[in-house]
Amino acid sequence: MQAIPEAQLLRLEGLREKVNLALESLIQREIDNGAGEVAQISGEILLSGGKRLRPLLGIFCYEIAGGKDLDEIMDLALASELIHTATLIHDDINDAAKLRRGVTTLHERIGQPKAIIAGDWLFVHGYGLSGRYSKECIDLIRDSCANIAISEFKQLDHILDLSTSPEDYLQIVKGKTAGPFAAACESAGIVAGASTEQIQALGRFGMELGIAFQLKDDLLDLHGDERMGKPRGKDVIEGKMTLPLIHALTLLHGERRRHLADILNNFNDGLWDELMGLLETSDSIAYAESLMLTHLERAIHELDKFPTSMAKSLLMQVAENVHNRYS
Ligand code: IPE
Ligand code: IPE
Ligand code: MG
Ligand code: MG
Ligand code: MG
Repeated sequence: MQAIPEAQLLRLEGLREKVNLALESLIQREIDNGAGEVAQISGEILLSGGKRLRPLLGIFCYEIAGGKDLDEIMDLALASELIHTATLIHDDINDAAKLRRGVTTLHERIGQPKAIIAGDWLFVHGYGLSGRYSKECIDLIRDSCANIAISEFKQLDHILDLSTSPEDYLQIVKGKTAGPFAAACESAGIVAGASTEQIQALGRFGMELGIAFQLKDDLLDLHGDERMGKPRGKDVIEGKMTLPLIHALTLLHGERRRHLADILNNFNDGLWDELMGLLETSDSIAYAESLMLTHLERAIHELDKFPTSMAKSLLMQVAENVHNRYS
């Protein structure tokens, strides 16, 4: 891995800070306007960390497409983070998660009813911010949000479904994770006034990056790095059919396949080493890793159409970080 040039790093950190400050003042404004506890509590989770990947991607895609005025793209960038945080709060309820961004999840702290409403509050404000843009942008955001719901339903229908195919998995991943990445990137191109060809390339860049991102998230769940801020094996406990499991179920035969099915149907942490041993036998972790790299390469390839710039280097840097991330 190459070291990141100092100027790039400063720009990345500077922008992340700018996004954080803008989120902070948005929450403060709502509190000042009398939104009370719901704004306070939503603000706490919004401001409790997070990589700010979607707003940063939006800003860099705007710039790579020729956009020059940060103020013009900022609301759309903030919208993507508000909507993302709303989905995290609801996702943690559905996944019965205890930790998010290294701290206790909202529903664990204040109960499910208020957590649901806090998620709705963030969502409405996010969608409201995107409502200031053109119909084309709003439609993209709307469709990406609707697709999250569609694919979360599909994911629930496939819980512990050992016949789940790689195509099912890919559809779920596109809907719940990659679609919102694509919407952030594509709509940023629209705001910048880019050509149709460039706008579509940015959409594909976001989609491929998002697929890689979720593949990595699913791998991190199996690696169980404590820096992630969430415990290992959560997906297996929840019966989520992630790609390494789907791959192993396809590759293994006879006694080993039966053993894997038994482990998945009755999983507890005591079966961890046996599960890892079977995934090792079928090379399923390596398979998912190499597929992740393929999607990252495809994402980076979409940037070929754009001239060299700081924004382009930063987008490539973000892609590189997906590969190397641990949280
Ligand atoms: C987590 O997203 C949810 C997934 C799509 C896997 P991030 O990893 O971007 O979460 P934060 O915003 O940095 O906490
Ligand atoms: C995240 O999927 C997709 C969302 C819409 C939030 P996960 O359920 O795998 O995300 P984590 O692992 O809880 O962050
Ligand atoms: Mg989930
Ligand atoms: Mg989850
Ligand atoms: Mg996950």
